[in-house]
Amino acid sequence: MIVAIDGPSGAGKSSASKAVAAKLGFACLDTGAMYRSIAWQALHDGVALDDGEALGALARSKPIDFAPGEAGGPQRVLIGGIDVTRDIRTAEIDRSVSAVSAHPQVRAALVDQQRRIGRAGDYVVEGRDIGTAVFPDAEVKVFLTASNEERARRRVAQNEARGVGSTDFASVLADIELRDALDSSRAASPLKAASDAVVIDSSALSFDEVVSAICDLARNRKAGC
Ligand code: DC
Repeated sequence: MIVAIDGPSGAGKSSASKAVAAKLGFACLDTGAMYRSIAWQALHDGVALDDGEALGALARSKPIDFAPGEAGGPQRVLIGGIDVTRDIRTAEIDRSVSAVSAHPQVRAALVDQQRRIGRAGDYVVEGRDIGTAVFPDAEVKVFLTASNEERARRRVAQNEARGVGSTDFASVLADIELRDALDSSRAASPLKAASDAVVIDSSALSFDEVVSAICDLARNRKAGC
C-alpha cells in the first residue's frame, strides 16, 4: 500500500509521515531529501542550477541511499556514499532546491528511483507530486497544508531543534512563500492537490489529530471502506 502525503513546505509532512509509518508498520520515503541531495551535489561539484542536462546526468549517476538513524536520530541520507543528512537542511540548500527540482530531467531520474523504492513494500511517501505524478494510483492520498505563518513558526522550531537552518521568523516566512510560488508555478509536476486527495489543514489541529486522521484513512482503505 502507498500512503501519499503531499503539501507545501512546513505543513508538517515529515513528522506526520514518520508517525503514520510507525503506527501502520510501514516504511517512510522522504522524496524532498532526494531533491535536496541533488542540490547539495550540484553545489559541491559546481554544476550550474539552470543546467537541466547536467543536473539530470548527476541525478542518474549518483545513487541516493537511506540508512537508519543513530539512537533515535533522523534517518540518514547518503549521496554517492557521502552522508549529507545535516548538510541538506541548510538555508543554502533551501534556496537552491526549487531550481534543481524544476528540471524535468532531474524529476524523471528521481521519480524512477521513488517508484522502485515505494513498490518494494508498504510505504508512506511524502513530497509534492506523489499523488499526482509518482503514484497516481496510491491507495491513500493526503494533501497536508497549513497557513503560511503557522508553517514558518514550525520551521523555525524545527531548525532550532536541529541546530541547522535559519531561526529568523521573517526570513523563514519569506523563504517559504518564495518556495511555494516556485514549486506551484513550475511546468513539471507542480505542487498541487490530486483531485482525489483528502485535504487536511493542520493549522488548527494537534499533531496527534493529523496523524490519527491519516491512519484512519489508511485503515479504512485496507478494510475496504
Ligand atoms: O519537502 P522538502 O522541503 O524537503 O522539499 C525540498 C524541495 O524539493 C521543495 O522545494 C520542492 C522539491 N520537491 C519536489 O519538487 N517534489 C517532491 N516530490 C519533493 C520535494
